[in-house]
Amino acid sequence: MFQAIPAKKGDSILALMTEYKNDPRTEKMDLGIGVYRDDTGNTPIMQAVLEAQTLLHNSEPTKAYQGLIGDAEFNEVIAKLLLQGTDALNRCAALHTPGASGALRNLGDLIYATKPDATVWISNPSYVNHRPIMEKAGLKVAEYPYLNPETKLVDEQAMLAKLAELGENDVVLLHGCCHNPSGADISIDTWQSIAELANKTGFLPFVDIAYHGLGDGLVEDLKGLHTIVNQVEEVLISTSCSKNFGLYRERTGAAIVVTNTQQQAINSRALMCELARGSYSMPPSHGAGVVKTILNDEALTATWKQELTQMTQRVQGLRNALVAEFQAKTQSNRYDYFAQHKGMFSLTGFSDAMLEKLKQDYGIYIVQGGRINVAGLKQAEIPQLISAILACEGL
Ligand SMILES: Cc1ncc(COP(=O)(O)O)c(C=O)c1O
Repeated sequence: MFQAIPAKKGDSILALMTEYKNDPRTEKMDLGIGVYRDDTGNTPIMQAVLEAQTLLHNSEPTKAYQGLIGDAEFNEVIAKLLLQGTDALNRCAALHTPGASGALRNLGDLIYATKPDATVWISNPSYVNHRPIMEKAGLKVAEYPYLNPETKLVDEQAMLAKLAELGENDVVLLHGCCHNPSGADISIDTWQSIAELANKTGFLPFVDIAYHGLGDGLVEDLKGLHTIVNQVEEVLISTSCSKNFGLYRERTGAAIVVTNTQQQAINSRALMCELARGSYSMPPSHGAGVVKTILNDEALTATWKQELTQMTQRVQGLRNALVAEFQAKTQSNRYDYFAQHKGMFSLTGFSDAMLEKLKQDYGIYIVQGGRINVAGLKQAEIPQLISAILACEGL
């Protein structure tokens, strides 16, 4: 039965990480996999999470099944975190899922169950798992233009021109903030135009927000999503607690469906539960327990917000320092985009040859396509990184 399965090349990011681990050089730099690190190179467990875990450990009454809906209280607090202050909060339903990955797949299954002929439009480029998740759900996937390779910013005109051609059979997957892999975010004017186009043409906006709080802050990062849900009746949302709560391995996220009425949202969630039953059944509970413990407690919420702000400010500081150092060394503005980008990543577009040279000659590990995990950089490494990049430029 399994003889016909060909050997597969492993995941390129994980392969790069193994190479990095085995590299004996002490000055090596890991700017590959998308996790936040502090200035000592550690991915810390947040203090709010540590405290919430202790509370949870001491008070958890049972390990019995939670049911297909997952943690119902978590569903409430996560919907509030994202939609508080919008009318959508009164016509939505959230489903606790195994990470945003689980949410993406569940919502892909929901689209397929209700509109099997739909095409899901993803940005070019997009998060590496968007296409396979939607295709595995049975959906057609197409790309809309997104990044201008020259400016490394969003080509908003090209993007809007393509979206204007779409219709009722189309779903448009958007990054709520901190676009992965580029770091280039949509302006508020363009979010407004997307909302107007969705209402005019009938496409369904699907906002994936996996880095809430890591761009400009918890309130600011919701501006795009709120622009959409305040004007468009039906919207899908996937969200992750991996990055902003540092709960990567706990697999904590949610799928939220915003509909015309609360009843439609509840009906949709019932279908989403049925779809979950057909795959993972129920999500793991621990991460959701931690998140709800934090968000239901004023003091813990304050600690969490403070820690998240520190993380965000560290990354913004690194971005500004990169630009200042580039400007000083090159007397040019060609790397200013690092400070215009938001969140953990910046897509440099460095060639394969340049990436290979950075790895071989300088021990700097960056994934194919040139996505740099700025959030993995240490302040003290900036001069070394910039010298290496400038030495390899032109390859
Ligand atoms: C844009 C985007 N969506 C979803 C995810 C999946 O997140 P999770 O770890 O919660 O499954 C990621 C993770 O990197 C991401 O970058």
